[in-house]
Amino acid sequence: MSEERSSIHGEWSTSLAFILAAAGSTVGLGNIWKFPYIVGTYGGGAFIMVYLLCIAIIGIPIMMSEAMLGRRGRQSPYNSMKIIAMEEGRSGWWAWLGGIGALSGFLILSYYSVVGGQVAAYVFRALSGEFNSQSAEGIRSIYEDFRANPEVLLAWHTIFMVITLIVVSRGVRAGLERAIRILMPVLIVLLVLLMGYGMNSDGFQNSMSFLFHIDFSSLVFEKDKLGNFVFDTSGSRIFTMKGILTAMGHAFFTLSLGLGAIMIYGSYLKREVSIAGTVFLIVILDTVIAILAGLVVFPIVFEYGLNPSAGPSLIFESLPIAFGAMPFGELIGFSFFLLLLFAAWTSAISLVEPVVTWMIERHNMTRVQASVWTGIAIWMIGIFSVFSASGTTLRRLVNTTSDYFKLAVPDMNGRFFNLTAFDLVDALVTLFLLPMGGLFIVVFAGWRMRSASTRDELNLRKDWMYNTWRFMVRYVTPIALLVVFIFGLVAWIGKHFVTRAVIT
Ligand code: PHE
Repeated sequence: MSEERSSIHGEWSTSLAFILAAAGSTVGLGNIWKFPYIVGTYGGGAFIMVYLLCIAIIGIPIMMSEAMLGRRGRQSPYNSMKIIAMEEGRSGWWAWLGGIGALSGFLILSYYSVVGGQVAAYVFRALSGEFNSQSAEGIRSIYEDFRANPEVLLAWHTIFMVITLIVVSRGVRAGLERAIRILMPVLIVLLVLLMGYGMNSDGFQNSMSFLFHIDFSSLVFEKDKLGNFVFDTSGSRIFTMKGILTAMGHAFFTLSLGLGAIMIYGSYLKREVSIAGTVFLIVILDTVIAILAGLVVFPIVFEYGLNPSAGPSLIFESLPIAFGAMPFGELIGFSFFLLLLFAAWTSAISLVEPVVTWMIERHNMTRVQASVWTGIAIWMIGIFSVFSASGTTLRRLVNTTSDYFKLAVPDMNGRFFNLTAFDLVDALVTLFLLPMGGLFIVVFAGWRMRSASTRDELNLRKDWMYNTWRFMVRYVTPIALLVVFIFGLVAWIGKHFVTRAVIT
């Protein structure tokens, strides 16, 4: 029986430890680096509204299901799924859900670590006073000079991978709990402080209307880099659902769903703890931090006339301006990037944890061996993102190497290979693999497990709570996922392969 099973990888000392670890996983670069720039790219309020909807009807039910599956299986996602599927009299193939998840974590970390490395570099840059009284132009060229050096980026990527794997190789309890307990509250305090700074700036009014005014056109039509709508040959705006698809993908990314991270942390969770209560708390915390980050970044963007749709460089080009202009800016900037680094670090740990535990169980490795091998492999894939951070597109990358490898690169209507490696990996994982993982998780929890088992494991206080969860995972969540997914993919692919072909 599941009550007697305990995790071979250790258990959380208290329920607070699980909350902290899951919060450490969910709060990361997704909230502070990614959320502002995708909000900026997809035009503000309407995007945020769709994102919040996705959190509520897709995120919460999936997170509850993941934590529940983890606690029932008590092993790596792969083996947990296998055990539960067998107990429920289902096919062993469900274990591959854990396999896909491990792959997603692997891929995300390859670029996450490159961004994390840039944050690490900015910890020192902020402290050095380099940002002091720089113009917006100056700050931007500091960033551009920095990322034009692949060797430097590679060094920071390496450092980030090493510090991540050191914690992972020491095991969950020893490494994680202690760090997060202190860091999370400090991060929130600092964000609130910075928001206070933004509230007094001239950009605050504009950023409020940008963030909270709902205008669907920015969400569903394509815009170019300067934020102008793109038109097709007939003169009409190009329709793309990518904004909605991105909002959904980000709900997965920011809540660490669909790849087994929450499942693995759930597997260290004691029986007595309420899954529903902790999940709600974590989701609220994650969402509040993302909105706070928006309230910190956008006043600066509007005050200094920056482009909100600058993309992944947004926080590196906006925040340092404020640090350079405020009293004690070096210290505040230093603490901010340091905390962001820690937030990224605790998320990174949860990205590799599913892979590492799986290697331990399946290949009979020690934790240290598994961490080293995983680390090396991810580090190598990350090299592609290092190049794309320094502005190299896949086409250029492949063309440069093709002298050696004689690779024939199809020039798909001149666009496809202009994606950077980062764009490609990010899109593959967040728009495709994570939602797919999430879909399988709810289908399994809702349709493949006996209701007696889920009821027992979730152990909700009231019947109506259980019934709501079950209705959500059986109908609402999978249907919502499928609708966004199919329409999004069709409109987006259609735009890339059909409309583009007409124009060019
Ligand atoms: N949720 C993390 C963030 O917002 C990223 C992450 C995704 C971590 C998936 C674990 C699993 O930065």
